[in-house]
Amino acid sequence: MYEVVTDAAIQALSHSFGLTNALLDWHRPQDHAHGDISTAAALRLSRQVGKSPQEMAQVLCGALSKLPDVERAEVAGPGYVNVWLTPTALLRELSRAREACTAKVKRKEPPVVIDYSAPNIAKPLGIHHILSTVIGQSLANLYRHQGYEVIGINHLGDWGTQFGKLAVAVQKWGEKPLAECSLDDLLALYVRFHDEVESDTSLENQARGAFKKIEEGDTKLRAFWKEVVRITVEALERLYERLHVSFDYSHGESFYEDKMQPIIEEGKKKSVFAEGEEGALVVRFPEESQLSPAIVLKADDATIYLTRDLATARYRIDTFHPQKILYVVDVAQQYYFKQLFATLKQLGWDLPELEHIVFGRMSFKDKKMSTRKGNILRLEHVLDEAVVRAREVIAEHEGHIQTDDADTLAEMMGVGSVVYGVLSQNRKMDMVFDWGKMLSFEGNSAPYLQYTHARAHSVLRKADADGAEFPAFVEELAGKERGLAQSLLEFARVLEEARAGHMPHILANYLFQLCQDFNAFYNDVRILEAEGPVRSLRLALTQCTAAVLKTGAELLTIRVPDRM
Ligand code: ARG
Repeated sequence: MYEVVTDAAIQALSHSFGLTNALLDWHRPQDHAHGDISTAAALRLSRQVGKSPQEMAQVLCGALSKLPDVERAEVAGPGYVNVWLTPTALLRELSRAREACTAKVKRKEPPVVIDYSAPNIAKPLGIHHILSTVIGQSLANLYRHQGYEVIGINHLGDWGTQFGKLAVAVQKWGEKPLAECSLDDLLALYVRFHDEVESDTSLENQARGAFKKIEEGDTKLRAFWKEVVRITVEALERLYERLHVSFDYSHGESFYEDKMQPIIEEGKKKSVFAEGEEGALVVRFPEESQLSPAIVLKADDATIYLTRDLATARYRIDTFHPQKILYVVDVAQQYYFKQLFATLKQLGWDLPELEHIVFGRMSFKDKKMSTRKGNILRLEHVLDEAVVRAREVIAEHEGHIQTDDADTLAEMMGVGSVVYGVLSQNRKMDMVFDWGKMLSFEGNSAPYLQYTHARAHSVLRKADADGAEFPAFVEELAGKERGLAQSLLEFARVLEEARAGHMPHILANYLFQLCQDFNAFYNDVRILEAEGPVRSLRLALTQCTAAVLKTGAELLTIRVPDRM
């Protein structure tokens, strides 16, 4: 983007200050009136050349003002350079903005592995699971869109003592054959186990025993485990479909059952693993890491979560040769991932970049959400509730909303509003779940985005102008028109920033800004009644907005209607 302008600025920096290979990045100024693009390069580079930022900015402005693409360039504040482009240059850049709606050409680079969703099977799927699921999926979409090869993996928690608990519960209180049990039946039994264990602690031991048997290959219990996995995976798949989430592989923890032993041996041989307290095998970390030792094998030789993650990393490295692995997992596991990464390093393997993508906790506006004991707020129920509420919203706005399929629209709006509620907030912060805000037609919400997209489409339908092209020349580009153009020009940069920083909310908030700019434009200028190149320009802006909104929403796993 802005190649001519960028080249001229870089040349000026090299000519006047002897700076070679300076980096120049353009942002949209906070205030539309402060130009089309702005750079803080002078502020960033001044110390390096021993000049004042103002002086450098002045030199940049001088060089840029001479360009035929530049209307004017000004120094602002402590040393920003604000640039106004000519209408012709803006039009040329706008056609490029549309290119950002298509996925980039595949890079010739090793893939990026993204580990996301990863619920624990036989445990209920709570609302909080939506976090890893949609943050992970949107990152996968962003990487793919930017030309990266992505391998999305669902690291299902399909191994561990919870199966022992469930086996005990089914045996003690189960009322029908397992094959006929729904996920709700399993959930009820699981909850019952947790209730009863409070008065009968021996249940805990029985559960551990049952799981040990599963590990040792007991045929009946293995069949039981398989059946539970089948029941939950089927229910999961229905949810993933509603959320537009998919994986390249569902390799659960059980997949690594036979891949751990060689690593145990290797760790022992390299003296990375050693005997710890009470007969367990542990890994100890260098003092400066301040990490306490972690168990790799329990005293009874049972493997644990960490053991499986070591085997998982080895398998991914050998199979996919990735440039990096992203683990999209709750912040509660931050310490755990430090230990995991440190262990991998001590094993001396050639590692890709490893990153734990954390996210904050979620709460409801009125009461704290909890997945302990019986108070499980199930993801499926929240989605259903959102759809019911979306239905009400549609009914309330009967006069404005046109649809011939209210069910499909309600599903799109309801699910979209929950997902957008998550992805529009900075993932590192705690999130507040607020129905009113999520389903609002005016605010930073999915329905607002969906409505704006449909509005743009309705204009295009009336104009019969689906392939609206930007004209090569217009007299002027001003007011709300220019504001919208500036917003559209940001799309490519925002996509890259959201991907590189692993921050989907940067994209969501950009889309919100774009909706506001489009609606201001829509209310301010005549589109259909305009004539000549002005009409083409306005239709092309409308068409470009629709394309950007759709592409952006879909990268966030959200669907938008053409009509509503
Ligand atoms: N199943 C785990 C949990 O629910 C998350 C797994 C994340 N991925 C991993 N490779 N450890 O806590």
